[in-house]
Amino acid sequence: MHSHSSKVSVIGAGAVGASMAYAMLIRESAREVVLYDINESKVTAEVLDLAHGTQFTGSSSISGGADISATANSDVVVITAGAKQNPGQTRLELAGVNFEILKSLLPDLLRYSPDAIFVLVTNPCDVLATAAQKLTGLPANRIFSSGTVLDSSRLRWLLAEKFDVSTANIHANIIGEHGDSEFALWSQATVGNTPLLEWKLADGGTLTREALDEIAYSVKTAAYKVIEGKGATNFAIGLSGARIVEAILNDEHAILPISSVLTDYHGISGIAMSVPTLVTRQGASRTIDIAMEPHEQALFEASASAIRSSLESLAL
Ligand code: 2OP
Repeated sequence: MHSHSSKVSVIGAGAVGASMAYAMLIRESAREVVLYDINESKVTAEVLDLAHGTQFTGSSSISGGADISATANSDVVVITAGAKQNPGQTRLELAGVNFEILKSLLPDLLRYSPDAIFVLVTNPCDVLATAAQKLTGLPANRIFSSGTVLDSSRLRWLLAEKFDVSTANIHANIIGEHGDSEFALWSQATVGNTPLLEWKLADGGTLTREALDEIAYSVKTAAYKVIEGKGATNFAIGLSGARIVEAILNDEHAILPISSVLTDYHGISGIAMSVPTLVTRQGASRTIDIAMEPHEQALFEASASAIRSSLESLAL
């Protein structure tokens, strides 16, 4: 249920932005949802289509168009605008073009909503969140990305299917880059209160190394598979974005693997990547300490390097 007088603007009315607005209406994530895009006919059509269903979605309203002033005084601004991956393309390959789009949008968005929390969904989201934080000078808690919230949901779904246990009782995260260098933090995962690595399967055994690798690989390649089949991913990221917005607006103190610029987190500073983070009305209020096995620490550092080299290619 939304908090009173809450306003969320979704920037970009493509498949992701429209699905996110749809998820927010159905979940009543905010009182007011605004959709903005430079393509006036597309955004007007999406807003109309969404508005036509509001008899069935509760008390959230939807409006918007191609005038960015409609985003004024948002509590949360979610940015989905940008080029999407073509089949076979990596997220990091989008850095240059989407950085330029972001650079052109941020000044106006900030001017209209100087107090908003900014959530970046556009890929590569860790690179762009780092760049956006540097460009705007906003504190790291106020500008971050959706990171591996979606990947962790993919992981939980796969594990829930495997164990025949509700996703709500699977506590497992994908951390690092939202991209090819991400990894599952198996050593800290639990099913209910049982360490995941000790969970007994139907045959009395535990998950083998091969099975764990196969699951992590399925998560890592999930978006490629969906993009191959339908050209984009949109529903699951839409829900992930709505979930993050709710955690902010309702001051939930929820732990989500969002991606904010880190300060000496397992030795990493100055780049955004996903780690379990407390999400409150202040945004990414603080990162949560977690233990990592030495091989996980190495994967974490490799993920940081992948993001760092992509950042170096941008004209920041
Ligand atoms: C996803 O993981 C493509 O980043 C997008 O679905």
